[in-house]
Amino acid sequence: MGASSESSRRHEQLILPGMAGNARNKRVQGGITTSNVVVSAHVGGNAEVFPHILALHVPEGSTVADVTWGKGVFWQNVPSGRYILKASDISIGVDCRALPYADGSIDCVVLDPPYMEGLFRRSREHMAGSGSHKAFRQNYSDGEPSQGGAKWHNAVLELYFAAGREAYRVLRNEGVLIVKCQDEVSANVQRLTHLELINEYERTGYYTKDLFVVVRRNRPVVSRLRKQVHARKNHSYFLVFIKTRGKKRRHHFERSRTRSSRMGETSG
Ligand SMILES: C[S@@+](CC[C@H](N)C(=O)[O-])C[C@H]1O[C@@H](n2cnc3c(N)ncnc32)[C@H](O)[C@@H]1O
Repeated sequence: MGASSESSRRHEQLILPGMAGNARNKRVQGGITTSNVVVSAHVGGNAEVFPHILALHVPEGSTVADVTWGKGVFWQNVPSGRYILKASDISIGVDCRALPYADGSIDCVVLDPPYMEGLFRRSREHMAGSGSHKAFRQNYSDGEPSQGGAKWHNAVLELYFAAGREAYRVLRNEGVLIVKCQDEVSANVQRLTHLELINEYERTGYYTKDLFVVVRRNRPVVSRLRKQVHARKNHSYFLVFIKTRGKKRRHHFERSRTRSSRMGETSG
């Protein structure tokens, strides 16, 4: 074999496999350049943020069960008719830990139970939000003292955990659970509720798909402050979980990661 045919064969060998690879694996970089995207941190109120979360994670026409409806503040800026909405609350006799829905029948559950230990006391006098703060208690809890069970911050977690398990039952596979929460200092110990929930819900079989931080506009006022030890919280979270079937959780995560990177979503 002459030098020139040897080099052309090498040339062929170099080009052909590469070309075949290109034809098979070619990535088309589609999409547009824009800053018009849903972002993870918002200054404002729940009613301003919530529609963005729905727009990103819950397709129109989905059946959504808001199981701690309260005053329906979350829904103030969501056009009516966009979702099949099922609203319930303990105040109308529906406990989010025992929902009146069939297994796998709901596309999205929204959960926002009382998030602070002060709302889980055994007597009304010891509950947060007395006197001039009565509206706070009415907006954030059913106003009733707890009937036993865990105490302090663990009582907060106990309700969130049980409600998360019940949501898992009523959600269809790949259904969405949107959870509102806020961290708190309890008995002088920092309790990062959002992390405690993520850890427990992932054990239940959820994949943590997204996290939103909501920063309030007004400054918190502290009464009877002697010496500040922890930063006063002026932010809270919306967490977005996806129901996955236990052992397929990792697979689901890997698959969605591959899909995101194919769509050019390299970070975030
Ligand atoms: C923070 S508020 C919810 C506010 C609501 N997201 C809104 O937009 O107006 C908490 C609500 O959880 C309800 N709640 C407390 N315990 C509950 C339970 N076990 N089951 C269902 N709802 C409960 C309270 O009655 C209260 O309305």
